[in-house]
Amino acid sequence: MILEIQNLLKKIEKLTEVEILQFLVQEYPNEVVFSTSFGMEDQVITDFILRNKIPVKIFTLDTGRLFYETYTTWENTNSFYHTRITPYYPNAQAIEEYVQENGINAFYDSVPLRQQCCYIRKVEPLKRALAGNKVWITGLRSEQSPNRERMPMIEWDESNSIIKLHLILHWTTEEVLSFLRKKGIPYNPLHDKGYPSIGCAPCTRPIKQGEDFRAGRWWWESKTNKECGLHVHK
Ligand code: ADX
Ligand code: SF4
Repeated sequence: MILEIQNLLKKIEKLTEVEILQFLVQEYPNEVVFSTSFGMEDQVITDFILRNKIPVKIFTLDTGRLFYETYTTWENTNSFYHTRITPYYPNAQAIEEYVQENGINAFYDSVPLRQQCCYIRKVEPLKRALAGNKVWITGLRSEQSPNRERMPMIEWDESNSIIKLHLILHWTTEEVLSFLRKKGIPYNPLHDKGYPSIGCAPCTRPIKQGEDFRAGRWWWESKTNKECGLHVHK
């Protein structure tokens, strides 16, 4: 697998983002997926895929706790591209039992309860969305956190047995926003209200000047590495 990843890295080295996507769907027909949370970077990648009609499957994980603005951005994206992004939902029985046992906002009560909520609402549905595919495209960027700064553009995701590719890893926030604004692509209005990184509503707050990009995510857990289990870094 390490060899396959090294080969891939070499092959895409000089390609543009759109060429990389075109190359991947040729190499792995019908086995390339992209996960979107409708964040600013995901909107760029969605545009590359849909404007160029590249057959990459696009899905989103609807945790049931997203912001009103995120649902609006989802709907606006569907309208803009005349498409329907595929949703994945948490297992109904798992979430019913969790809420019954622990309460509706139990993620504030302890780190394990928060992680359990993320597992039920995001990680397990992600596993279903990725199953049977070979390449998973994400919108992670190195600027987002010290963890992500060191990340290579292509990695092997052990927990999901899939090649993971961060298509716009080296783009800056300014580059992302100016791409969206120039093309009139819909994006989450919360980005202009102090939310550079947007997850579930009860677990995301705006950041203050000088705070890091992800400071508003699970802010009450200041000592953790602020990841939810979708992206596990060594
Ligand atoms: S998270 O792990 O902290 O939640 P983040 O919000 O930085 O992730 O997003 C990084 C990438 O993870 C996104 O570009 C997207 O590919 C994927 N992602 C995050 N949340 C979701 C979601 N709810 N549905 C689909 N993909 C998601
Ligand atoms: Fe649950 Fe918060 Fe994780 Fe969303 S981010 S899945 S509400 S703990």
